[in-house]
Amino acid sequence: MVSYDRGGKSVGNLSPLSDPGIVPNPYPVYARLAEQEPVHWCESLSAWAITRYEDCAGALRDPRFKAERMEEILSGKFQGRALSAENIYHRFTKNVMMYTDGPRHAALRKSTRAGFTHEAHGFYSEVIERVAYDLVASVPEGAKEIDAVSGLAEKLPVHAAVHAFGVPEEDLDTVIPSVDKVMTYWSGPQEQPLELDQLLEHLADLHTYAFELVEGKRGKVVPGTVIARLAASLEDQTEVTPEQTVHQLVLLLIALFAPTTPGSLASGMLAFATNPDQIARFLANPACVDNTANEVVRYNASNQFTWRVATTDVDMGGVRIKEGQRVALFLGAANRDPAVFDQPNKFDLDRPNSGKNLSFGFGPHACLGRQIAGLEIKWFFAALFDRFPTIRLAGEPEWNSNLEFRSLRSLPLSLG
Ligand code: HEM
Repeated sequence: MVSYDRGGKSVGNLSPLSDPGIVPNPYPVYARLAEQEPVHWCESLSAWAITRYEDCAGALRDPRFKAERMEEILSGKFQGRALSAENIYHRFTKNVMMYTDGPRHAALRKSTRAGFTHEAHGFYSEVIERVAYDLVASVPEGAKEIDAVSGLAEKLPVHAAVHAFGVPEEDLDTVIPSVDKVMTYWSGPQEQPLELDQLLEHLADLHTYAFELVEGKRGKVVPGTVIARLAASLEDQTEVTPEQTVHQLVLLLIALFAPTTPGSLASGMLAFATNPDQIARFLANPACVDNTANEVVRYNASNQFTWRVATTDVDMGGVRIKEGQRVALFLGAANRDPAVFDQPNKFDLDRPNSGKNLSFGFGPHACLGRQIAGLEIKWFFAALFDRFPTIRLAGEPEWNSNLEFRSLRSLPLSLG
């Protein structure tokens, strides 16, 4: 099988997607694969890597590809460690919307509706705007340079988690470390840094925590928040069990503290700092402000790929994907597909179709937090450019080595 180096040139037999060196700029490799081998077997992922927009979007709404996949991932990561059906791992992964399909998925997703209504998003928007301006105001007067990852991008989602989602502030020290540990697992079948028993312990801790939270036995939930709204809707739930409700809450906690939102805020700052003309467009045109979240996540997806399992043989891109095989849908590659996005490597707030990005998935599993994440991105940049309209790079940005959840480790910015 043909392979390519970081610049996209053919080099040998290893998949170029296995090379952590591509993380800072995977796009030349994606472009070459999309052109020459759009469905490409990647041994290190044990999956078919799919890079064209049409194929990714098609697979995300094709019932021949199921979202239920965590059993395969468990056997890939911890070979020979079967777990009983009652184990927290299976109870959780078979009862959350992210890893279920069909009517069960629909019922689980519907059970969280009270937290995501139009009216609720209006409230979250006001709260997130305030939180974003407060965060930017907390940068000390006279500061010339900051690490924008630890100083800003990592903080906003935590503050939003308290004031818009309702995670009690006093519980953050319990929840965040457990989510961080669980997230080391949630990156598909790659090398696993955590022992299985530790992983299960953290998952069980999050369940105990979520259960106590809805029972009112933990810290104070801010009224009007997602958790307050979900807790108030508990008695109306007819299609899900109380345990399933707790599973959805654990999933929300994981999504909330995952590297995706800080990853998008940080990569967005990098995009603006290296394209100052786009800061000018942001400041000049309200339509550009409204398109910022779409273009920021299109330009750099913080979840570069997601997973499905083929339920039957499927022919795609000149190969046959066999029943039971995994596919890795490269959302980050689809977002740069020239068949959909004109000059895809340009960061452009005036782009008419940035909203077609696949960074939040597509179809039945499209991100439940998309609107809230979009509000965080929009209000963050409004607050940032209100005070610091001339941010620039002040050193080399450093990326984490994880391609799946691609995010910056540090971003030195001069504040102007
Ligand atoms: C920039 C930030 C975010 C990104 C890039 C992102 C990305 C994604 C993606 C790609 C999916 C689809 C996965 C798939 O189809 O396999 C997804 C699903 C999901 N996301 Fe997000 N997400 C973000 C923020 C959030 C937040 C803040 C929440 C919290 C509410 C959240 C909750 C969820 C949930 C519950 C699902 C599963 C939906 C379902 O399966 O029906 N996400 N997200």
